Amino acid sequence: MIPFPKMKLRNTEVRVPIIQGGMGIGLSSYTLAGAVAREGGMGVLSSAGLDRIVSKRHGQKLKAREAAAQDVRDAKVLGSGGAIGMNIMVAVINQYEDSVLGSMDGGVDAIISGAGLPMALPEIALRHERSQEVALVPIVSSGRAMEIIFKRWKRTGRLPDAVVVEGPRAGGHIAWRDVAEALAPENHLDNLLADVFEVVKDWGNIPVIAAGGIYTHEDIKKYLDMGCTGVQMGTRFLATYESGANAEYKKMLVECTEDDIELASKPGSPCGMLFHVIKQSPFYQQALARERAPKCDKGYLLNKGHCPSKHENEKTFCICNGLLASIDLNGPTEKNLYTVGANAHRIDRIVSVRELMCELQNIPYVADVEAPKDIRAHQKDSLLL
Ligand SMILES: Cc1cc2nc3c(=O)[nH]c(=O)nc-3n(C[C@H](O)[C@H](O)[C@H](O)COP(=O)(O)O)c2cc1C
Repeated sequence: MIPFPKMKLRNTEVRVPIIQGGMGIGLSSYTLAGAVAREGGMGVLSSAGLDRIVSKRHGQKLKAREAAAQDVRDAKVLGSGGAIGMNIMVAVINQYEDSVLGSMDGGVDAIISGAGLPMALPEIALRHERSQEVALVPIVSSGRAMEIIFKRWKRTGRLPDAVVVEGPRAGGHIAWRDVAEALAPENHLDNLLADVFEVVKDWGNIPVIAAGGIYTHEDIKKYLDMGCTGVQMGTRFLATYESGANAEYKKMLVECTEDDIELASKPGSPCGMLFHVIKQSPFYQQALARERAPKCDKGYLLNKGHCPSKHENEKTFCICNGLLASIDLNGPTEKNLYTVGANAHRIDRIVSVRELMCELQNIPYVADVEAPKDIRAHQKDSLLL
């Protein structure tokens, strides 16, 4: 068995070239990211909603910047010195700057930013004293988007340290607004990668990370053989004991079939981009029946600075409230929303991060008996599944 090669992102060496994708809100929790880092991959937090999540965990009111810093510190403690990244969505515009600076305060190794083009990322990051230590990684879904980012970032003197190329089978928001376009053969991840490689070759030796629908050891090998430096995976990590998803969410991941997964579009996300949901999600069902009155009292995910779900429920629905409910953080008033990648129907059981990382590397599994208390506690709760 030949081990996968290491991955270098700016100053950070990642022993296993697997990035656990950021999953908002609260799904890529500090326990998940810490456990992945502990296993040699890069664990990635998500900045969305951290002011609420980390304030609750620590029993004190923290603003976005302090909360991002604290989440990184907490994940670093669990991660035994491994690499921790922060996913920051451009669409969470009101907290973008604070999330970048806070993550850097906390000692983050990489900032990974998509759900819009992260044009301002280098300008913000360069103001921080750790700017030369932190890898800045945009997420794109076309060579054109890559080109635009290169040209804009060049003005600041800082080019991307890597790029994540995300295809339409990915969990979270995808780059397309139209279902037929998202499913068109030319938008298959392999074609998007070819397109991005074509652009990247003119700008230097920048690592390319593949994402969206990657599921097995063989899939990872395929993308490394194609010239990628690593992969980013979300759905597989969502289905671990350590993720922030609540018990009903994890149960649904195990039970859902291919027919149960669809791209939410009418109504869809407030930010206009498509995302996969499990049809039976109670929050989604309510949205389809237009039974939830327009309301957005969280205001993380915005469209041109506003949340349309505040005033209408025909075209969009408020996903922040559904996602917060799915990590048991929204009281009994809101129902659960289950968002996934297109491959979620392949999940047949919930596993530990250790077991998953062994499977993905094709190495024998040995239980992590020395896992830190927070990770063990999480596993124990989830064993009830
Ligand atoms: C439940 C879920 C939530 C996600 N949330 C985010 C997010 O907040 N921001 C983001 O950039 N990507 C998000 N993603 C995308 C992942 O970071 C990753 O790129 C993607 O899941 C890869 O595709 P896969 O799920 O097929 O492995 C999310 C993915 C999932 C499954």
